[in-house]
Amino acid sequence: DSDRMNIAIDGPAGAGKSTVARKVAEQLGYVYIDTGAMYRAVTLCAQRAGISADEPVKLAELARSLKIDLEPGEHGQSVYVNGDNVTALIRSREVTLQVSHVAANETVREVLGVMQRHLAARKGVVMDGRDIGSHVLPNAELKIFLTASVKERALRRHREMADNQTITLEQLESEIAERDRLDEQREISPLICASDAVVMDSTGMTIDEVIDAIVKLSRTKLAEAK
Ligand code: CDP
Ligand code: CDP
Repeated sequence: DSDRMNIAIDGPAGAGKSTVARKVAEQLGYVYIDTGAMYRAVTLCAQRAGISADEPVKLAELARSLKIDLEPGEHGQSVYVNGDNVTALIRSREVTLQVSHVAANETVREVLGVMQRHLAARKGVVMDGRDIGSHVLPNAELKIFLTASVKERALRRHREMADNQTITLEQLESEIAERDRLDEQREISPLICASDAVVMDSTGMTIDEVIDAIVKLSRTKLAEAK
C-alpha cells in the first residue's frame, strides 16, 4: 500500500547500518532485515561442513540446501539455520574473516537475493547490506549509502568488543579495510553506491542524528508520493 515504502541501507562495515536500520524500522513500525546475517549464516555452515570459499560447486550446493529464518528477537534479530539458532555464532572472528570470500560466490548471492526479495515483497521493510539499493531492491523508495572513515569504523568496532585486548585497533582497521576491498572489487553485485542513493557520512554524527535524518527523508518521500 502507498503508506509504506521499502528502505535500502548500504555501506561498508561499521558504518552503523544495522544499529540505525533497526531503530528506523522500530520508529516507522517496519520490519528490519539484516542481509549480512544471511551471508554470515552460510559462512558458518560452510565452515562446519569443511567447505572452503574456493570450492564454488560445493558452496553453491550448500547454499541451496539451507533454510534461513530471521526473527525479531530481544536484542535485535535472531538467525536460524535449519531450525538451529546461530545468532551469536555468526558474529565470530572466524566467520568475519571468511564471509567476504563466501559472499563472492555467484550462487550464494542468487539464492540469498531471492530470499531477500521475497522478504521485501510486502512494503514496510528496512533492509541493510551491500547491494540492496543497487541490486536486490533497485525500486526501493528510499536508498541510503551510509559510510564513515575507516578509522572511525574500526574505533566503533573496537569499542564494541568485550575482550578488545585480543585484537589491536590497527589490526582491526586493516581487517575492515581488507573486507571493504573484497566487497567493492568482487564481480557480482559489489558494494557500490546506487546512483539514486542519498550518501550520508556518519563520521561526525551520533546514532540518533543518523536515525532522525533517515526517518525525516522517509516522511518526505511518503508525502511526495501522495
Ligand atoms: O556487520 P558488518 O558490517 O560487519 O557486516 P555484515 O553486514 O554482517 O556483512 C558481512 C559480509 O557479508 C560483508 O562484508 C559482505 O561480504 C557480505 N554481504 C554482502 O556481500 N551483501 C550483502 N547484502 C550483505 C553482506
Ligand atoms: O552494521 P554496520 O556494520 O554498518 O555497523 P553497526 O554494527 O550498526 O555499528 C557499528 C558501531 O558503531 C555500533 O557499536 C554503533 O553503536 C556505533 N555507532 C554508530 O553506529 N553510528 C554512529 N553515528 C556512531 C557510532
